Amino acid sequence: MCGIVGYIGEQQAAPILLDGLSKLEYRGYDSAGIAIFNNNQIEIAKAKGRLSVLAEKTDNGNAIKGTMGIGHTRWATHGEPSDVNSHPHISMSGRFAVVHNGIIENYASLKKKLTERGFEFISETDTEVIAHLFEYYYKGDIMDAMIRVINRVEGSYALGVLCSDYPDQFIAVRKASPLIVGLGEKENFIASDVTAILKHTRDIYYLDDNEMVVLKKDGVKVYNKDKEEITKEKFTVDWDVSAAEKGGYEHFMMKEIEEQPKAIRDTISPRIKDGKIVLDDISLTAEDIKNINKIYIVACGSAYHVGVVGKYVIEKMCRIPVEVQVASEFRYCNPIINKNNLVIVISQSGETADTLEALKEAKKRGARILSIVNVVGSSIANASDDVIYTWAGPEIAVATTKAYSTQLVVIYLIAAYMAEKLGMLTSSEYTDFISEIEALPDKVAKILESKEELQYLASKFFNCHSIFFIGRNLDYAVSLEGSLKLKEISYIHSEAYAAGELKHGTISLIEDGTLVVALATGKELFDKTVSNMEEVKARHAVVMGVTTENREISEKAVDYIIEIPEAHEILLPSLSVVPLQLFSYYVASLKGCDIDKPRNLAKSVTVE
Ligand code: G6P
Repeated sequence: MCGIVGYIGEQQAAPILLDGLSKLEYRGYDSAGIAIFNNNQIEIAKAKGRLSVLAEKTDNGNAIKGTMGIGHTRWATHGEPSDVNSHPHISMSGRFAVVHNGIIENYASLKKKLTERGFEFISETDTEVIAHLFEYYYKGDIMDAMIRVINRVEGSYALGVLCSDYPDQFIAVRKASPLIVGLGEKENFIASDVTAILKHTRDIYYLDDNEMVVLKKDGVKVYNKDKEEITKEKFTVDWDVSAAEKGGYEHFMMKEIEEQPKAIRDTISPRIKDGKIVLDDISLTAEDIKNINKIYIVACGSAYHVGVVGKYVIEKMCRIPVEVQVASEFRYCNPIINKNNLVIVISQSGETADTLEALKEAKKRGARILSIVNVVGSSIANASDDVIYTWAGPEIAVATTKAYSTQLVVIYLIAAYMAEKLGMLTSSEYTDFISEIEALPDKVAKILESKEELQYLASKFFNCHSIFFIGRNLDYAVSLEGSLKLKEISYIHSEAYAAGELKHGTISLIEDGTLVVALATGKELFDKTVSNMEEVKARHAVVMGVTTENREISEKAVDYIIEIPEAHEILLPSLSVVPLQLFSYYVASLKGCDIDKPRNLAKSVTVE
């Protein structure tokens, strides 16, 4: 969703802002804008549409002089995408310019009050209220105005604010929306995430809620709401700059699919020592684990699908009941939680608003929170009791691949770790399971060698109107992800069904030539899924089966077979998901879709 970049230094600000915003394009947006302090006043340029429109309008930023500015990519919430609704928004006198990520929930009442006091609104946004509020509260000290503004607004915000009375500084603040500070040499930055400024600096402050920051060319100061200066810990980001670049690939999604063997290896290797799973990152003791009587897994989107795999895996290996819920439901369902419950929260970005709020709800009710997060220092990581980071590196494509895969392996590590502590595994079962986990990166790499096969299958089906995915147990969990991947990037209608449930309604949708992707990797339920494949084939569906090598599926049940390497049954989702990612990618590519930035979607969903 919305992306923010701010710069102060000795270089021309506008081209730096545009470049930074281009690194945030993946978050999803529909318009963009910049505000630059130039000739003692604030100059604004904004445009509906892709960043390239704004770049063209400003000669890649070169047309606007000035060495301090703020920039924004907007994902519309209040008011349609348009030039006027784009950020930055300015106060009536033009003294303040504001960029905002988040939602001001009480904007309507504030707008009414400000209107009564003579303020005129030109946009439909909630953000314009903030620009006017600054003007309203400003009595010559910008920090005092900021404190009054944040005490008055309700909701979530990351704000960057320019004031024409302050030619050598700008200010920023955040609450429940991401914002980091980048510390350079004679230049400093704010950004929604590190990818936007990685080119310039790796030294970062992660801001906590309601911490206010004053950025000058030569330094950065952070204050609490009482205007007291606070000391922040400096973090150094070790991501390679190239990690956030396409590196010769046509799309980030394909690059990230190909990075999966490495991402999985990077995530598991530091946690397997001398044949044992070592989770130094978490403080759960064996005693704590024995006391857990229920686990909730809470997440959104693909991370939720990892949770569905997690339910099967943890229940099977640990015999602890697991309930998996999408965060937007969990947070409002008055969940029954006690101190013997563990809540596992999964999130790539660590900033998904619903997931963060669900976490807070669970914590308030006494649960212990263990999160699986990809972004270090993110809000979800900060709010958790324990964090296990996935070392996937920056994921730019909206449709997740390597983050999903690394989240999965963390689930396996957690399940085996707990099962061992609970005495549910013999030592040879434990050792075998660990070596099977360690073998996953090579097996994923092997699947990636047969990309052409998936490209061929995509060429046969990219014109389909509807595609169904079926499977049982873990295969069903992976079907959910396969179906989501396909629909989000190719816009083909798609649904995932538990294979046994198909005949309770959905089978009526099967027509001559309907494609059914059937996952039959699990040994125990293999025959049953094959029967379901026969059922749809008997109704003239075309069946694409996904199974492990050395398995036979008769022609009566399947038209095309995709084989994956053999592995421990529980670990098969790590393999079966890969051909589904590739299939979706090639279908979307053949349809000419904007693969990395699918319509209407955002990578980091920071509003409810
Ligand atoms: C968006 C993304 C999905 C992601 C979901 C949850 O919908 O497009 O790929 O799974 O958000 O995001 P998170 O960052 O919490 O994993």
